[in-house]
Amino acid sequence: MTKLNTVLITGASEGIGRSFAETFAKHGHDLVLVARNQQKLNELSIYLNAKYAVTCHVYPTDLSLKHSAQKLYEQLMTDKIEVDILVNNAGMMQIDPIQQADVDTLNNLIQLNIQSLVNMTRVFVGPMIAKGEGRIVNVGSIASFMPTPSFSAYGASKAFVLSFSEGISEDLKGTGVTVTCVCPGITETKMLSGAHGVEQYIPSFLKAQPDSLTNDAYKAMMKGDVVFLDKLANKMLVQYATHYPRWMVRRINGLFRRFTL
Ligand SMILES: NC(=O)c1ccc[n+]([C@@H]2O[C@H](COP(=O)([O-])OP(=O)(O)OC[C@H]3O[C@@H](n4cnc5c(N)ncnc54)[C@H](OP(=O)(O)O)[C@@H]3O)[C@@H](O)[C@H]2O)c1
Repeated sequence: MTKLNTVLITGASEGIGRSFAETFAKHGHDLVLVARNQQKLNELSIYLNAKYAVTCHVYPTDLSLKHSAQKLYEQLMTDKIEVDILVNNAGMMQIDPIQQADVDTLNNLIQLNIQSLVNMTRVFVGPMIAKGEGRIVNVGSIASFMPTPSFSAYGASKAFVLSFSEGISEDLKGTGVTVTCVCPGITETKMLSGAHGVEQYIPSFLKAQPDSLTNDAYKAMMKGDVVFLDKLANKMLVQYATHYPRWMVRRINGLFRRFTL
């Protein structure tokens, strides 16, 4: 068993985060499970403990609240739980053209997808550096690579996650702490089914199951890869977004939006 024993996963109650929890448990890691829904976290904790004999700690937390990262860190210090691997997975999507978007929802999105991810990284990285090893996994998206009309704030937040992750991966060189930005494509979770019917326009070969994503992401993280993309189709989409002129990618994505939403 690796010394990287204890993993904190945000957004562990559903979807990709829940699947990350099972992937880590399968590899024998103890878990700190974070999300708002305490009941779901408790049920997951019981299930993973029974199936994989790992220790699970449940910390219900609303990460869209200011100072939540600092409070969570202090609580873990009090409870003498050291985090070796941090998985910043919790995120939310908002679909509406900007002129119709609800301001509170936009602000919650920025707080959760950006500020809390930065704050979690900032508070947990210090002890990892002091120990001389650690892993940070930030969940971006293929949306990190291109503008996403109608959910522009979401796409921009994921562009931030990718840029932030790549930047700090250089800052942390030589410390023993690596950073991996996992950039999922379209993955079958509640986030997708809640995306205003967009799902019906997505061919099934483009959709991934959370467990295949998290199993491959686990290997990439352990190797210390900085950017991880699953599925050939997603890699091709990123090639399109990064090699064609920006105006063209923007217009094509805008046409897709007009057609689907
Ligand atoms: N599904 C996709 O197609 C896709 C594609 C690319 C990237 N991603 C990214 O992957 C990550 C996980 O997405 P998913 O599809 O698994 O979404 P999901 O099924 O909607 O799950 C989101 C998770 O985040 C938690 N969460 C939401 N708001 C929170 C808050 N304020 N504080 C703490 N936890 C909160 C939710 O738990 P509670 O409700 O219990 O708090 C849940 O566990 C996100 O960062 C998303 O942007 C998803």
